Amino acid sequence: MGEKIAGLDVLGEEYFADPHAYHARLREQAAASEIVLPRGTKAWLVTRYEEARLALADPRFSKHYERFPEVMALNRVGRDEGVIEFDQSLVKHMLNMDPPDHTRLRKLVTKAFTARRVEQLRPRIQEITDGLLDEMATRSEVDAVDVVDVVDALAFPLPITVICEMLDVPMDERDDFRVWSNVLVGGGNGDGADLQEAGGKMAAYLARLVENKKADPGDDFFSALVHADEDGDRLDPMELIAMAFLLLVAGHETTVNLITNGVHHLLRNPDQLEKLRADRSLLPGAVEEFLRYESPVNQATMRFTNEDVELGDVVIPKDSVVVVALSGANRDGSKFPDADRFDITRPAGGHLAFGHGVHYCLGAPLARMEGEIAVGSLLDRFDIAPAAEPDALKWRPGTLIRGLEALPVSLTPRGAR
Ligand code: HEM
Repeated sequence: MGEKIAGLDVLGEEYFADPHAYHARLREQAAASEIVLPRGTKAWLVTRYEEARLALADPRFSKHYERFPEVMALNRVGRDEGVIEFDQSLVKHMLNMDPPDHTRLRKLVTKAFTARRVEQLRPRIQEITDGLLDEMATRSEVDAVDVVDVVDALAFPLPITVICEMLDVPMDERDDFRVWSNVLVGGGNGDGADLQEAGGKMAAYLARLVENKKADPGDDFFSALVHADEDGDRLDPMELIAMAFLLLVAGHETTVNLITNGVHHLLRNPDQLEKLRADRSLLPGAVEEFLRYESPVNQATMRFTNEDVELGDVVIPKDSVVVVALSGANRDGSKFPDADRFDITRPAGGHLAFGHGVHYCLGAPLARMEGEIAVGSLLDRFDIAPAAEPDALKWRPGTLIRGLEALPVSLTPRGAR
């Protein structure tokens, strides 16, 4: 690892390019190791499976937004970039809360985000996917373009279309969302001014969206959320903005990488691709392996200790920032034999790609459905081959998300379905 501050590795370009090698090294050393996050915050990085699972579910690792700025300030090292003041309406969402506040919000959103409502989306998700694949086929057959970027053509537009339809964000405003959300999730550049600007625009936009839904409710998911009621309790306008923000970001910065990373590893492992083509019943297990092997959320969101906590062979002092490397845990050989091998037939389940404990991903059933439909339909329609050398592929910068910026593939249509 290149740069160091106070003798600690700073996670930077080298880490973004290959977090797995670094996690493997740390896993050998201890259950958790101190590192410095790219913006200059000292944190403990948990890389082993058992301890990752414990930390995700243990209330001594808090997420509450109220104390976060103070703990962040205590752990700032080296450079002083100042605390970024986020628009408060974007911060007060359930991923930044502990029980009982978290429990209350999660209950209300679960009322709207039912398994039935997700299952009802299936035909529409298939339809959106088919439309995107039609466009790919047209470009290939009519325009004779035989190299397509899977990110641009399928993996990005599918989940964002689904989540924007769920929240009723008009088509022509989705590009703005892409820009704001990318800035917010990517961690911004330098002084954080871009983060503040993107946050402010997003908050103002979502406030208008909430107002519209209150005034003019429909049969959609967002209306259900606006009107969700638990014993007379409801989400107030600020909570609705925060929830919509969380769903938009969580819904479109993650599934894109499930699809892209999955296709990427199928292409790099032709035997696995052949197996999947030969036996489509392997698809659900393959999606679990995509999630395990190249987890779209590389590191879970930050936690902090509200007392000294013994974790495996280390004691993490009170007021430390703690980051669970989900992709580190998911490559731990003590849980997953031959963990660095991509094997779509390995027993599915047990991975931590969707987190664990009270913050376990609310959208997991939706993400799985989108992943299966996208990859299954892509294989139905086309023979695909890599159109770039692995070294030419660029991973997105940042510690949170693991995904390729672009994945060029060459396509040969397999004929009408
Ligand atoms: C492959 C796709 C996805 C992955 C890998 C993923 C992963 C995760 C992870 C790891 C967490 C827990 C973070 C932590 O504990 O720090 C989480 C939470 C969450 N996810 Fe997802 N997610 C995905 C898709 C989605 C989708 C499509 C939605 C919604 C439409 C969604 C909504 C949420 C929400 C609301 C939370 C917060 C839950 C809480 O605090 O109780 N996710 N997700």
